[in-house]
Amino acid sequence: MELELSETQSQLRDTCRAFAERELRPNARGWDARHEFPREAVKKLAELGLLGVAIPEKWGGADMDHVAYAVAMEEVSRGCASTGVIMSVNNSLYCDPIQKYGTDGQKERWLRPFATGEKLGCFALTEPEAGSDAAAQKTVAVKKGARYSITGSKNFITNGPNADAVLLFAMTDKAKGHRGISAFVVPTDLPGLTRGKPDDKLGITASQSCSLFFDACEVPEENRIGQEGDGFKVAMSTLDGGRIGIASQALGIARAAYEEAVAYAKDRKSFGVPIAEHQAIQFMLADMATEIDAARLLVWRAASLQDAGVRHSTESAMAKLFASEMASRVANKALQIHGGYGYLKDFDAERHLRDARITEIYEGTSEIQRLVVSASVLKD
Ligand code: CAA
Repeated sequence: MELELSETQSQLRDTCRAFAERELRPNARGWDARHEFPREAVKKLAELGLLGVAIPEKWGGADMDHVAYAVAMEEVSRGCASTGVIMSVNNSLYCDPIQKYGTDGQKERWLRPFATGEKLGCFALTEPEAGSDAAAQKTVAVKKGARYSITGSKNFITNGPNADAVLLFAMTDKAKGHRGISAFVVPTDLPGLTRGKPDDKLGITASQSCSLFFDACEVPEENRIGQEGDGFKVAMSTLDGGRIGIASQALGIARAAYEEAVAYAKDRKSFGVPIAEHQAIQFMLADMATEIDAARLLVWRAASLQDAGVRHSTESAMAKLFASEMASRVANKALQIHGGYGYLKDFDAERHLRDARITEIYEGTSEIQRLVVSASVLKD
């Protein structure tokens, strides 16, 4: 594994860093306060090729690798964590599985406009009673001739209020358990599909999520991704990639919190000197810097394995577990360094802490990541 970025990856990092500094960071606090979807920023992500980073050019993507994607996600999320997750869901949870499991005809229709960013995708696995236990799907897809009639509900669907299509998982044969789940791509304007109002969340408030309700929603057979019964494996292997995206998002949030804490510590004085001269602060900054680098190494390892086409479930779970919990620790310390000011909305420290928290929950809670890692540790 290379520890140095290639020239293309470095260029992408510099482009994303400049974009985030110019367009995201100055606006992130306002979008958060107003719970405003960053529509213009998402358009610019599309112009930069950031909505289909690892998708081949042939299908409208930027034709880069997943290490480049992780680097881009970190930089975008450093500027705005909400914009980061909008990008992550479209790339990892929508485009990647259609690229991997779709037919050429499906890619033409359901991948190209999403990889270019003309349209936005989302991923609907979670249900009110199937969160961590993803195999317990209650949404059913009943075959009727050349169509499936889909009934059920999904919740916490990131990008749900703004998406043009959803990669949906539903039970086609309940008797087969997880082997009876199938995947479908469903346009969000189909009759029988309605959306709930956007969720009111603690953090990442500029990215929107909602419930999706399916009431005898008729989906053509040609919209099934993979064979009947392949859905659980499609979902799990997709999450192996998605967890790298979320780990990178966590890394970006941690970096934003850390860099602002360093600047504040050099500026703020107590006991007659900048607080950066107090060992209590120095040790906190040292731990933050070390943890951020450790997380990045885990993220890049998982992304390199994905690029090598090797199963990387354990490495992705480790990266997401460590990076997400690290982001909360770092954001918490950054707030502490800011003292009373850190608790005010006039600074970004409190937003970073709120934004970091979700990375320990979505795309598999920390407890689920520990299950995946321990299953691998104990398998021999
Ligand atoms: N890749 C390919 N296949 C996989 C796999 C993977 N990563 N993980 C499991 N499988 C296969 C297994 O090999 C097994 O195959 P067979 O049928 O051939 O035996 C099958 O799937 C079942 O595996 P398990 O028995 O391990 O499955 P399980 O029911 O015990 O579940 C779990 C495992 C890890 C707990 C899983 O349910 C899980 O990851 N839960 C968390 C769900 C999750 O992350 N949800 C996030 C929703 S998306 C989101 O959050 C988006 C957002 O808003 C940003």
